[in-house]
Amino acid sequence: MTVTEAVDKRISVRAFRPDPIPEAEIRDWLTTAQRAPSGGNVQPWKTIVVTGAAKDEIIALAAGKLAGNPKGEPTDRPVYPPNLWDPYNRRRKKVGEMMYEKLGIPYVDKPARLAWFSNNFRFFGAPVAVFFVIDERMGHGQWAHMGMYMQTLALLAVERGWGTCMQECWAMLRPSLKAHFAIAGTEMVYCGMSLGIPDETAAVNGLRTERAGLDEMAELRGF
Ligand SMILES: Cc1cc2nc3c(=O)[nH]c(=O)nc-3n(C[C@H](O)[C@H](O)[C@H](O)COP(=O)(O)O)c2cc1C
Repeated sequence: MTVTEAVDKRISVRAFRPDPIPEAEIRDWLTTAQRAPSGGNVQPWKTIVVTGAAKDEIIALAAGKLAGNPKGEPTDRPVYPPNLWDPYNRRRKKVGEMMYEKLGIPYVDKPARLAWFSNNFRFFGAPVAVFFVIDERMGHGQWAHMGMYMQTLALLAVERGWGTCMQECWAMLRPSLKAHFAIAGTEMVYCGMSLGIPDETAAVNGLRTERAGLDEMAELRGF
């Protein structure tokens, strides 16, 4: 598989087969991804990878916390800026509409959408989940480097026949996850990632999201 093929093939997978992934393969995947670049080579990422009972504990924790508080716990780093503006807001809405169309859920049916959304907190049936931890004293540069690391993992997953879904929804439970994982006082959980073999029969995995055209994103000067 070429890098181009991996980039093209990577999608957010939202239904997985239950097949476990052996620890040695997870270790190899993580070791390979360590080659991701970061400014000053500071490597400002840490991961907590869970499977089996450790993963089930998180699912139970999320179910318990969100039952009493469906909006989640407060965070001073919201996933999106308030009042997200166009074209960003338009793109966000569009992908939601496309996903719910694939699922056969009318966009106006909010209870059904919320019910589907709760699959996030069961990792969409994935056998493995990854949590990304960053020191909250880090700045925007290091957050960008975390993104490079995450995409490196996602592409390496494709090469291995696995699928991923990055999950910022776990920002809704940052204080509880911090306490659960007993991470250092200055560290925080940024994001989650579901990992496993994609369920190719699931309609939701047929979603091919759109991208803006090159002219919208890039200026080529001096060519
Ligand atoms: C950092 C990050 C966090 C995301 N969080 C979620 C999430 O919580 N739940 C979800 O279903 N998708 C999540 N996504 C998936 C995006 O919706 C998806 O990447 C985007 O719509 C483009 O689709 P594609 O990944 O299939 O190309 C996330 C993606 C990224 C990069």
